[in-house]
Amino acid sequence: MRKFKTKLPSPKITFDRVGQVWFTLREVIILIYRGNPKLLTLVFVLNAIWGLSSVPTFYLEKLIIDKLIAGSGSGDWRPILYSVLILVVLSLVLSLFRNFLSSYIGYLRRNLSRFFDAEIDALIGKKMTELDLSTIENPDFKDRFNKVERESGQRAWQLMMPLSDIPNYLIGFITATLVLIFVSPLVSLGVILFSLPRFFINSRFIKKEYELHGQLSPLHRIWGWISYYLRRNRNYMEMKILGLPDYLTKKMKATIEIILEKRMEMSKRREISSFVGFLPLNFYELIISSFLVVWVIVGKITVGSFQLYLRSLRSAEQNLSSLVSSFLEIYENYIYVTDLVWLLGLEAEENKGVRKEKIEYKEISIEFRNVWFKYNKDQKWILKDVNFLIEPGEKIAIVGENGEGKSTLIKILAGFYTPDKGEVIVCGKNLKELDLSQWRNRLAVLFQEFELYPFTVREAIGYGDINRMDDLQAIEKAAEKTGIDGFINELPLKYENPLSPDFERGVHPSIGQMQRIGISRMLFREKARVLILDEPTSSVDPKAEARIFNELVEISKDKLLIFVTQRFSSVRIADKIFVVAGGKIAETGTHQELMQLNKRYAKLYNLQAEGYRL
Ligand SMILES: Nc1ncnc2c1ncn2[C@@H]1O[C@H](COP(=O)(O)OP(=O)(O)OP(=O)(O)O)[C@@H](O)[C@H]1O
Ligand SMILES: [Mg+2]
Repeated sequence: MRKFKTKLPSPKITFDRVGQVWFTLREVIILIYRGNPKLLTLVFVLNAIWGLSSVPTFYLEKLIIDKLIAGSGSGDWRPILYSVLILVVLSLVLSLFRNFLSSYIGYLRRNLSRFFDAEIDALIGKKMTELDLSTIENPDFKDRFNKVERESGQRAWQLMMPLSDIPNYLIGFITATLVLIFVSPLVSLGVILFSLPRFFINSRFIKKEYELHGQLSPLHRIWGWISYYLRRNRNYMEMKILGLPDYLTKKMKATIEIILEKRMEMSKRREISSFVGFLPLNFYELIISSFLVVWVIVGKITVGSFQLYLRSLRSAEQNLSSLVSSFLEIYENYIYVTDLVWLLGLEAEENKGVRKEKIEYKEISIEFRNVWFKYNKDQKWILKDVNFLIEPGEKIAIVGENGEGKSTLIKILAGFYTPDKGEVIVCGKNLKELDLSQWRNRLAVLFQEFELYPFTVREAIGYGDINRMDDLQAIEKAAEKTGIDGFINELPLKYENPLSPDFERGVHPSIGQMQRIGISRMLFREKARVLILDEPTSSVDPKAEARIFNELVEISKDKLLIFVTQRFSSVRIADKIFVVAGGKIAETGTHQELMQLNKRYAKLYNLQAEGYRL
C-alpha cells in the first residue's frame, strides 16, 4: 500500500482540442459498450438508418414534382394522378416509418442512458471499495472524487444524446453530399469549406469554456458544499442553533449569481459568433440556389431535381453543423470524463505486487517491531518506534489519551496502512507479504466509527458473516449476548425491522443500542480468530458493559482479543495492558503491575476513580 506523498497520478491526455474530443468520445463509447453492447449497437444502427432515410424522402418529392409538371396541361390526367398517388403513398409510408423510428430511437436512448447511469454508479461504488484507504483519504482524491460523484447523474444523459446522434448526422451528411456530387463535386466541397468558419469559431469557444470552467470551479465547489449542508439533515439541529440556514442560503445565491452571470455572458458571445459563423454558408446557399435556378431555366435540370438538390444542400449543411455541435457537446463533458476515467483507472496498491502468501492461522501471534508511522509527509510521526508482542490467546487492552494513535495502531494491524519503518509480524511472517483478504477473514473488527447498515436488524448483525446470513438462530444468539435482543423483540417487525426512519416502520436506535448491535455483529463472525474492538462500549450503560465484556472473555477463550477503551472498569479482564503515549507503548503490564509502577496508567486510573468518588 502506498501513501500519497506526492500528487495523484493523472491519465495521459493530450491537450490538443481534437485529441480531447476524441478521448471523450472513445472513453464514453467504451464505457457504454461495456455496460450494454447490444443496446448501444442497436441505437447506433437505427440512428444511421434514420440518417440514411432522408435522401429517399427528397427523391420521392422530386419525382412527384416532376410528374406533376410533366403532366400539367396534358389532356389525360388519369395516368399522372395514379402514378403521383402511388408516389404520395410511398412518401407517406416513408414518413410514417421515420416517425416510428424516431420514437423508437428515443425510447432506446432513454433506456441506454439509464443503463449508463447505473453502470457508472456500480463501477464507481466498486472502485471505491477496492482502493487503498490512504488513496481515499487523500484531499486531492477527495476533491476529484466529489466532482465525479456530484455530476455523474446528469452527465450520463448529456453524453448519451449527442453521442447517439452522431451516426445519424454523419450518414445524413454523407448521403446528402453524395447527391450534390451529381450537380458538381465542387458543390459538395463548398459545403465543407464554407462550414469551416463556424467550426473554427466554435472550437475557439471550446477553449474559452474550458478556461471558464476552471475559473468557476472554486465557486462551484462552494455552491456544492453549501447545498450539501443545507440538504443533509444530519447537522440540522446544530445549524438551526447557529442560525446558519439563512446566512448560507444567501451566500449560495450570491455564488450562483456570479456563476450564472459569467456563463450567460459566455453563451451570448458564443451565440453571436455562431450566427456570424453561419453567414458564409447562408451566402453560399444563395449562390448555389441562383445557379440551380439558371439551370432549371435553361432546361438542364428539372424543377424536381432543383428541389432535390436544394433540399440535399440544406440537409448537408444542417447535418454538418449538428455533427459539429454534437462533438462540442461531448467535449463539454471532457473534464468529467477525464476524472471518471482517472478514477476507474486507479488501482489499489494492495492488489498489486507480492502480497500473496496464504498461511494457516492457527496459533495467532502479532508483533510490532520498531513501527514508525505518519499519515502524510508533512505531518508529525503518529507512531514512533512501537514495539510489542501479542501471544496466542492473550487479551489486550489498549489505553491512552485522545489522539495518541490507538485507532491508528488497529488500522495498521488490519493492513489498511503500512508502517513507514519497521514491521508488523503476524504468525512469524511480515504482514506485507501475506494475502490481506485471507488475513482480514480472520479478523472481526469493530471500528470506532462503524457502520450500522440500516436495512434490517437481521442484516445489520448478519453482515458479520454474509455466508450465514440466513441463520436467524445464530443471529438471535449474537443479539442476546449483548442484551440487545430485548430491544429487537419489541420492534414491530423484530429481526426484519429496518434500522432507519428512511424505511417504513424503521426505527432510529440510540448510540448505545447501535454499539450493541455492532458488537453483536462482531460476535456473529465466529470464523474470526482475532477480535478487535475500538472503544466498543463508550456509549453503553455500565450494566450492559459488564455483561458484554463477560461475553467477550467467554468467546475469546481460544482467540486473540484486543480492545481499546477509555473506561478502566473493563480493563481488568485484560492479560496485558498497553498504554499508548508519545507515539510509543509507554507502559505494558497487568492492572496490578501498572498500578504498582505508579506512573501514567496509575495516574489515569486514579483520575477516573476519583471522579467516581466525588
Ligand atoms: N486519516 C487520517 N489522516 C491524517 N491524520 C490522521 C488520520 N487519522 C488520524 N489522524 C491523526 O493521527 C493521530 C492519532 O489518531 P488516532 O485516531 O489513532 O488516535 P486515538 O488514540 O484513537 O484517539 P481517540 O482516543 O480520540 O480515539 C491524531 O493526531 C489524528 O489527528
Ligand atoms: Mg481512536
